[in-house]
Amino acid sequence: MGGDIYIHDQDHALSLDEISAYRVNPGLLDFLERKCAGSGLRQDQFRILDFGCGRGQSVAGLRRLGWQAYGLEVHDKWIRFAEPGLRDAGAYEPGVLRLGRTVGGPGFEDGFFNVVYSSSVFEHVFDLDAAVGEITRVTAPGGWGYHWFIGRWSPIEGHLGMPLIHWMPKNFLRRWMVAAAVVAGMEPGWQTVAGMGFWQRVKFYYDFSVDQTVYRSVADYRRAFQQAGQRVALDTLNHPRLSQLHGSAIGWIPGGVRLVEAACTAFKTVILSTEKPVSTL
Ligand SMILES: C[S@@+](CC[C@H](N)C(=O)[O-])C[C@H]1O[C@@H](n2cnc3c(N)ncnc32)[C@H](O)[C@@H]1O
Repeated sequence: MGGDIYIHDQDHALSLDEISAYRVNPGLLDFLERKCAGSGLRQDQFRILDFGCGRGQSVAGLRRLGWQAYGLEVHDKWIRFAEPGLRDAGAYEPGVLRLGRTVGGPGFEDGFFNVVYSSSVFEHVFDLDAAVGEITRVTAPGGWGYHWFIGRWSPIEGHLGMPLIHWMPKNFLRRWMVAAAVVAGMEPGWQTVAGMGFWQRVKFYYDFSVDQTVYRSVADYRRAFQQAGQRVALDTLNHPRLSQLHGSAIGWIPGGVRLVEAACTAFKTVILSTEKPVSTL
């Protein structure tokens, strides 16, 4: 990714209160339960990686539910923020959070994980092939992936809450769109910008958008995973909320559910599931 430190609206250590209030994504839980049951492994043998774990809420949440969850990051700041919370929650053990090899960290051993998942990470990954290569390396043969991230054509940029700015090229057009959003009072309320003047804030948001976000088509992700030797499927339909559509009125309209899925993928959240074949021969 671009800058050294990912600027976050939660720039502080993870607390026990936050862990207690945190709910693990139901789509991920459903995926883990299905894959674990199919693997013949016990829950405490089934290793899971949160790729780009940030402050580690999800690692802590899964560990509290009995899963063998680990976290990988590219910024040591997030690992430092995650560790105290995991310790307080009794979810810490040495090596549970690691800096990835792509940034010179120890990473994890080849094929260590049954499932690698990521949440809102890919829209921050600049070197997609390197990230997918690392995910594939640490996934066990026959293991799986589950990744969700903001759709390229989402009308509102998911971090700044500003309409359409990420549809613009990374030049003056985007800067002016950011300025228009600030004039309209559409700001994310980040503490980092408190006390800044108008143009300073515009520059801050624009630099964030240029240096820290990158939006790609689903086809780009398919290509990257397939080149790394993985199978890829769109999993948006299997999300618990969308799966209810099958039994609803939309389910009766020919192609209706597919249409909703396509719209969700383009404009809202992309959910990709992947599988690393046991053998590529
Ligand atoms: C929006 S945060 C999401 C954090 C966490 N997954 C969550 O859902 O709260 C994006 C995270 O991706 C991490 N990241 C960015 N590029 C990465 C890469 N190439 N490999 C692993 N993590 C990366 C960032 O450091 C950051 O913590």
